Amino acid sequence: MNAVITGITGYLPEDVLTNAELEKLVDTSDEWILSRVGISERHVLKKGQGLGTSYMGTKAVEALLVKTGTDPLEVDGLICATTTPDYYFPTAASMIAYNTGCKNALTFDLHCACAGFIYALETAANYLRTGRYKKLIVVAGDTLTSITDYTDRSTCPLFGDGCGAVLMEPSEEELGVIDALLRTDGSGMEHLYMKGGGSAYGATHETVDKHMHYIYQDGQYVFKRAVTYMAEASLEVVKRNHLAPEDIAWIVPHQANMRIIEATARRLGVEDKVLVNIRNVGNTSAGSIPLCLWQNEYRLHKGDNLILTAFGAGFVWGAVYLKWAYDGKPATT
Ligand code: ACO
Repeated sequence: MNAVITGITGYLPEDVLTNAELEKLVDTSDEWILSRVGISERHVLKKGQGLGTSYMGTKAVEALLVKTGTDPLEVDGLICATTTPDYYFPTAASMIAYNTGCKNALTFDLHCACAGFIYALETAANYLRTGRYKKLIVVAGDTLTSITDYTDRSTCPLFGDGCGAVLMEPSEEELGVIDALLRTDGSGMEHLYMKGGGSAYGATHETVDKHMHYIYQDGQYVFKRAVTYMAEASLEVVKRNHLAPEDIAWIVPHQANMRIIEATARRLGVEDKVLVNIRNVGNTSAGSIPLCLWQNEYRLHKGDNLILTAFGAGFVWGAVYLKWAYDGKPATT
C-alpha cells in the first residue's frame, strides 16, 4: 500500500512586509537582503487580534476540503506540523480539526521546526500504510513573525508566516511517498533555538528584558550544516533508489536562504530543476515546502519524481522521495 498526496492548498496572510519597510526598522537594505538571502517580501499574520497558526491552518484545510471534495467527517487524522502553535496547549491540530468539522480525526501536533513537513509526511504515510486510515491531512506552517526580534537585523529579514495543507490517501499505484530518510543531531541545539518560554526558562520579566522569547541563531553555522545535511540526505535517497539526475523532475528544498538552496542543488547536480518561492514568501519553517509545492502545482505531473529536503532546529533534517500522483492545475489563492 502506498500513501499519495491527492490535493494541496496553502494560505498566506494578506499583510506583506517588504524590504523597504524593514529598512525603516533596522540598519539593513533591500540590496543586502536580496543578495545575501534572496527575499524581497514576506507575509505577516496580523498582530494583536489573537490570531495564530491555527487561523492559517484552518484557512488552508477549509480550501483543501473544498478543492478535493472531501467530507470533513471522512477525515481519519489531521497532523499539524508547527513550532509556533497558538498555545502551549491545546494543540493547533485539535483547533484546526474543530474549526473545519473534522470530528472523526485523530489529531496531534508534530514539532520538528523547519523539517516538520517532511517528518509529518512520512508519519502520515505510515498511518496509511497500515490500511486502517483512508484520509489524512497534513497541515504544516508557522507564525515565525510572532517570535522574531524586529530589533535584530541578522534574523528579522528571514522569516514570514504561512501554512500549506495536503490530503493523503492510500493507493496501490507505485506513487506517493516512496522513501524517506530522516535524521537528528541534538548537538545543534545551542546554534538555533528560542531560549525562553519553555519549561527550562518560563516567562519572567528577566526573560522578556533579555529578548529570550525570540529566535536565536548562529547564522553561519546553521548555513553550513543546512547545506551539508540537506545535500547528504538527498544524495543518499537518490542513490538508494537508483535515480539518475535525469530521472528527477524537481528538487523541493526548504526555503531558508537562496544561497542555501543553490548550494544544495549544486551538490546534487540539478541546478535547473529546483522549485523556489522564497523571494515573496521568506522562510515559513514547516510551511515552506508545502507552500512551494502549492504555488508550483501547475508544473507537476503524475509520475514526476520529486526530492523534498529540509533542515531545521534540533538539528533535524532529511529527504523524501515523492512520486507526484496527479497532473497539477494553477494554484488558486
Ligand atoms: N543587513 C545588513 N547587514 C547585515 C544584516 C542585514 N540584515 N545582517 C547581518 N549583516 C551584516 C553582519 O553584521 C556582518 O557585518 P560585519 O561583516 O560588519 O560584521 C555581515 O553582514 C556579514 O554577516 P554574516 O552573518 O557573515 O552574513 P551571512 O552572509 O552569513 O548571512 C544569514 C547571514 C542570512 C543569517 C545567513 O548566515 C543564513 O541564512 N544562515 C542560515 C540561517 C537560517 O536560515 N536560519 C533559519 C532557521 S533554520 C533554517 O531554516 C535552515
